[in-house]
Amino acid sequence: MAKFQRIGVLTSGGDAPGMNAAVRAVTRSALLCGVEVMGIYGGYQGLMDDEMKLFHSSDVSGIISRGGTILYSARALEFKTEEGMAKAIAVCKKNHIDGIVAIGGDGTFRGATDLSIRGIPTVGIPGTIDNDISSTDYTIGFDTAMNTVIDLIDKLRDTCESHARCNVVEVMGRGAGDIAIQSGLATGAIAIAVGEIPFDEEAAIERIRSARANGKRNFIVVVAEGKENYAEGFTKRIQEQTGIESRFTRLGHVQRGGNPTLRDRVTASMMGSFAVDKLFEGQSDIVVCERNSRIVAMNIGFALKVDKLFKGKLTPEEIAAIPPAELSEMQKICDERQAKKMMLYNTARITCK
Ligand code: F6P
Repeated sequence: MAKFQRIGVLTSGGDAPGMNAAVRAVTRSALLCGVEVMGIYGGYQGLMDDEMKLFHSSDVSGIISRGGTILYSARALEFKTEEGMAKAIAVCKKNHIDGIVAIGGDGTFRGATDLSIRGIPTVGIPGTIDNDISSTDYTIGFDTAMNTVIDLIDKLRDTCESHARCNVVEVMGRGAGDIAIQSGLATGAIAIAVGEIPFDEEAAIERIRSARANGKRNFIVVVAEGKENYAEGFTKRIQEQTGIESRFTRLGHVQRGGNPTLRDRVTASMMGSFAVDKLFEGQSDIVVCERNSRIVAMNIGFALKVDKLFKGKLTPEEIAAIPPAELSEMQKICDERQAKKMMLYNTARITCK
């Protein structure tokens, strides 16, 4: 059991509902072990700028139900430099911070590794609405964002029905189509277009045309933002080729706000407590993941490589350099992830007719 006196907690990257629940769990789990907690404001930028406050239990009172992050967030370019890193380490030393829990996406994890290497043990927790971290089945905020999306699409469907229109809705997700696929399935979208799965536009238009011929008045098409510069043009083509009046809606940042759902509050709380347990056990440079409904720890370097492998960002040389046993473990994670994505996508395709 490593000896800690004071740890820091921060949120970094795009905010996500449930981050507050994770901050609360980290704080209270550490305090229960007699370890002090510094709330670091503004992510890694705040760490470099020494923006922090010693947290008492009351500082995280009443936040489990709140969206956004009470610690604020930022994307900090300077943190990627040696100077930025030196500043952060000096601030940790000055404030007697001997460990950090960092909540965010893949950029946050790269920062966590850099800190761990330089002697500040750091544990990452996946927090992003995108669910685009390949090492974990789930990222905090995904469920809330999708519930916001389906609520908004249900509303769009009402007005589409009244006016016999089609609405093409673009949802967030960066390069990942997870929000689009699951919210499209849950709202009965007639077509879902995402960047990572080939999309048959002709077939989608034909489906809309034939459903209209059978008397259907309203149509919802969901497009992931990862299918770049596509949704608006597709809206026009639907109208031109079917004669159905069509509208385009980009949901935007509204998807990132709101009170977290039960799923996000519970998962964030479990991950927060688990992260503190692992840190105090002496583990560092790990990310907390959900794999097959269990909370587990994974080495950050391994997790980042899995992510690159899944997204096709590893060169053949980089792949060849991975030991075979490790590579086959990584491949298994990627295959399971892809199979789940395809199962959801195909279910949406089958059930929308
Ligand atoms: O990663 C979360 C996310 O909301 C993505 O879905 C989106 O592409 C991006 O952040 C938007 O970033 P910003 O808030 O910096 O505009």
